[in-house]
Amino acid sequence: VTVSVPELDRSDGSRPMPGEGLDRSRAPPRVGGTGIRDLLEILGAPDVLSLAGGTPDPALLPVADLRTAYESVLARPETAGEALQYSSSQGHPSLRNEIARRMVADGVPCTSDNIAITAGSQQALDLLGKLFIWPGDTVAVGRPTYLGAIQAFDPYRPRYVELSAGACAAEPALSIVYVVPDFHNPTGRRMSVTEREALLAQTSGVLIEDAAYRPLAFDGSRQPSLLELDCRRCGSIEKARTIFCGTLSKTVSPGLRIGWICAPARVIDKIALLKQGADVHASTINQLVAARVLRTEPTDRLLHVRTEYARRAEALQDALTQSLAGVVTWTRPEGGFFTWVELPPMLDASRLLKRSITEAKVAFVPGAAFFARTPSHACLRLSCSMLPPDAIAEAVARLSRVIKESLNDHPGPE
Ligand SMILES: Cc1ncc(COP(=O)(O)O)c(C=O)c1O
Repeated sequence: VTVSVPELDRSDGSRPMPGEGLDRSRAPPRVGGTGIRDLLEILGAPDVLSLAGGTPDPALLPVADLRTAYESVLARPETAGEALQYSSSQGHPSLRNEIARRMVADGVPCTSDNIAITAGSQQALDLLGKLFIWPGDTVAVGRPTYLGAIQAFDPYRPRYVELSAGACAAEPALSIVYVVPDFHNPTGRRMSVTEREALLAQTSGVLIEDAAYRPLAFDGSRQPSLLELDCRRCGSIEKARTIFCGTLSKTVSPGLRIGWICAPARVIDKIALLKQGADVHASTINQLVAARVLRTEPTDRLLHVRTEYARRAEALQDALTQSLAGVVTWTRPEGGFFTWVELPPMLDASRLLKRSITEAKVAFVPGAAFFARTPSHACLRLSCSMLPPDAIAEAVARLSRVIKESLNDHPGPE
């Protein structure tokens, strides 16, 4: 397999080469708190009913298909030799073809030249930060937003502006925007077509579309992706300003570490070069396995996965209605894993978490970590992905007791 490394194209003249202009001796990368690591520690605590992690349930991953795929890839000397070898920094052609096919089926006119394979979509965010964000650049993110995006972008020293849901009209033209339009982490919200159109119209530079939960609509319905709308507006993906980040982590396996960027070919060429500098390429064997699993996936597999997450989300909604109506407010997601809860303002979700773990053995994620600028402390994220419906009901019942007791400790103004 030849590793093709395109020349970096500087003809647009709009941006310096990656790394140029960064005086690293005077500007050490900003590496802040360890939100995700702290979370993983909480998840490991014994006896805790966890509504915390945004991880897929292993019972809903295609374990047998993955085993067959590994066996088949390793069974023949030619494919084994290829699977265990270095490969292209842009990604193995068989996987890029399969992903391109899926993007086309999802409304995006593209080819495998528009796809780069990354180590999960988390690495896609890092590489896009490296390519597009320069110290002091303004990056617009949701209020709240995915905390892993803040972690990926922070080392490139952006200045953030926060966009509240549906309120992007308040901001002037946005030059770099990051959004999770489908079943947002942490709120579970899905943007309407009107909101998507408005955001596209307002973005003057790069629009990063994080589609991590896009395949997980509970009823299988779809809204056009921002990239699809953008391609429709400008006639071709090569003229689009939207960069789509996808992942197999929520539906096939996060352990495979397979994500992708779908974008104009000139952006993909630069990403391939940055990918080569970062870690040469995504695991070849995992890419071949992923390509095979996608190619042979039974049509009803995702239907079953969506239905199961829908049952859990419904159990969460029912439990919240039963024990916390009138006390807190919450979102009603139509897909994905997350529900966002707003607490009465006198409560602090981090303090509540300590009490919830020690007194009720229930974990959730305090909301403050999901704000790029000004944290709000009276909010939290619940995930329904890891527990069956009866355990979700039990967890919310216990959590509601802790919330009500904490409110009793704060009787409010006389
Ligand atoms: C919104 C969002 N984007 C990206 C990721 C990164 O996932 P991965 O790197 O496993 O593809 C996650 C993981 O939780 C996420 O919630």
